[in-house]
Amino acid sequence: MEVIIRPSAKSASHLAARLVAKEVRARPGLVLGLATGRTMEGLYAALVEMHRSEGLDLSHCRTFNLDEYIGLVPDDPHSYRRYMHEHFFSKVDIAPENAHLPDGTAADLDAESARYERLIQAAGGIDLQLLGLGKAGHIGFNEPLSALRSRTRAKALTPMTRRQNASMFGGDVRAVPERAITMGVGTILESKRCLLLVTGGQKAKVLAEAVEGPITSMITASALQLHPRCTVIVDEACAKKLKGRKYYRWIFENEPEWTEFQSVR
Ligand code: GLP
Repeated sequence: MEVIIRPSAKSASHLAARLVAKEVRARPGLVLGLATGRTMEGLYAALVEMHRSEGLDLSHCRTFNLDEYIGLVPDDPHSYRRYMHEHFFSKVDIAPENAHLPDGTAADLDAESARYERLIQAAGGIDLQLLGLGKAGHIGFNEPLSALRSRTRAKALTPMTRRQNASMFGGDVRAVPERAITMGVGTILESKRCLLLVTGGQKAKVLAEAVEGPITSMITASALQLHPRCTVIVDEACAKKLKGRKYYRWIFENEPEWTEFQSVR
């Protein structure tokens, strides 16, 4: 794992977008795992900008989102399908048939979960998985006590997560669905590379627990410590509870891999 600390949320998302773009350019048929939430909006905006101004070509990419709310039809204004359409899919050249999300309206959620896993396998697995961090320490919707080997499945959302996501539902926590289909921690850990983007002081404590605390199913993001290739990008506010911040800065400044990213603002 490496931890990169940037001065602002904007520069953190720009760096994350640069990293995604580098992977896409190196491998046009990249299988990209996508995430939702407010934090990702800056990253998608930066990718859209690169698509427009630099001709970043995403037309050969296949994408798989981490999760979807159960019970929301794809064009519900609050569905993650709609979120992806608004922030990303409608603004870049990803072919609609190559952009996958679990179907939250499936009658048989177990069968839908198994289908989604098979689809990921058939695509050759995920090359680069984008991840955000929930206040409950989750990745995807892998709430506390999710098995670290879990696969895609239906999951109940904790009150904390529903409160956190209420802002996307006009502030009404009762409008937030009670369950979601999510890739499992085990599914996420199988992706070839992970990129966790977290910003803001409100998540400083849980981020420090995920990165520097024990690996525990109570904070499923801590399982990323087991991943062979995980990059964590945070802003200054989110880094403030990391004990090793001086060391992480030293790595970013001295590791040749990061030289080309040091000037990203
Ligand atoms: C939801 C998603 C998570 C995401 C989280 C972060 O819970 N299922 O994958 O990490 O939101 O949300 P935000 O960026 O809005 O804080």
